[in-house]
Amino acid sequence: MTTVTSRSVNPEVEAIRHHYEVSNEFYRLLLGPAMMYSGGYWNDGEDLRAAHETAQERKLDTFADIAGAKGAAKVLDIGSGWGTMLDRLTTVHRVEQAVGVTLSRTQADYVAGLGNPKIKVHVESWEDHKTDEPYDAAFCINALEHFVLSSLTPRERMNRFREFFGKCHSLLKPGGRLVLHIMTVENPPLQRRIIDDLKFLQREEFAGCYIPHLHQLTATCEGLFEVAEIRNERESFSRACRVWLMNLADRRQEAVALESEEVVARFERYLDIFAYTLEDGIFNNFRVALTRRG
Ligand SMILES: C[S@@+](CC[C@H](N)C(=O)[O-])C[C@H]1O[C@@H](n2cnc3c(N)ncnc32)[C@H](O)[C@@H]1O
Repeated sequence: MTTVTSRSVNPEVEAIRHHYEVSNEFYRLLLGPAMMYSGGYWNDGEDLRAAHETAQERKLDTFADIAGAKGAAKVLDIGSGWGTMLDRLTTVHRVEQAVGVTLSRTQADYVAGLGNPKIKVHVESWEDHKTDEPYDAAFCINALEHFVLSSLTPRERMNRFREFFGKCHSLLKPGGRLVLHIMTVENPPLQRRIIDDLKFLQREEFAGCYIPHLHQLTATCEGLFEVAEIRNERESFSRACRVWLMNLADRRQEAVALESEEVVARFERYLDIFAYTLEDGIFNNFRVALTRRG
């Protein structure tokens, strides 16, 4: 595995690192061996904790199948986290080269530790990524929520989504698939608790993050991608949040020793907010499969 560090990162980099450069040991305790920071696909009746890893693998395999990534020469994962998707693509789906981009240096260090020669991770923002040979397929699993600042005007946000889809279009082969998971928001009920919780997410834990409406995505990919599938996998994410909260509760003292009471309390609060807002249908978690036009 190779790590490439880019000199040019976007100005939101500190906000991303505030969340994602908490130690890898802490994330391991929280996320478990799957090291996926996104939802899993549980079958009905499966125990949430016992089947967590299986559910995460099922999700990754579904993504690989939808993208037609099996045996592909070169595949991209935008916002690649701790490299679990990259590793699975090369070890299970016979992908020859799996490339990731992330802003987190600690995530890149973790992926380097996997020692997988078919993986390459770039510490850079998606807009800085370049490739000589276009990709056969691309993924972006719960990372696009970070790419558009909430402080932008509505028009600027649409331009930024358009820029993202334009970039993906330029990186893919004609007919190549881009498969996303992304949270979207419904208009939340005007209740004090929900408003306070959404403010906490926006201002403290994920400063600048923007959770879009579904139509903003479909409007801004028009002409660049054909929408092949849209499916709401809301429970996939709320269930994962519940598992992570249980992991944290079981080993809370250890988690505080690794980080601090303040960090652990922050995670408990934000995971609980995500879990209940997804359960109540205030947030969605859409899987969107797009085929590159042209
Ligand atoms: C919620 S994590 C998801 C990680 C992984 N896809 C998974 O499902 O486990 C979001 C990821 O997006 C990355 N990220 C955030 N902003 C980014 C940017 N501008 N360019 C590239 N990656 C970014 C973070 O570093 C992190 O790896």
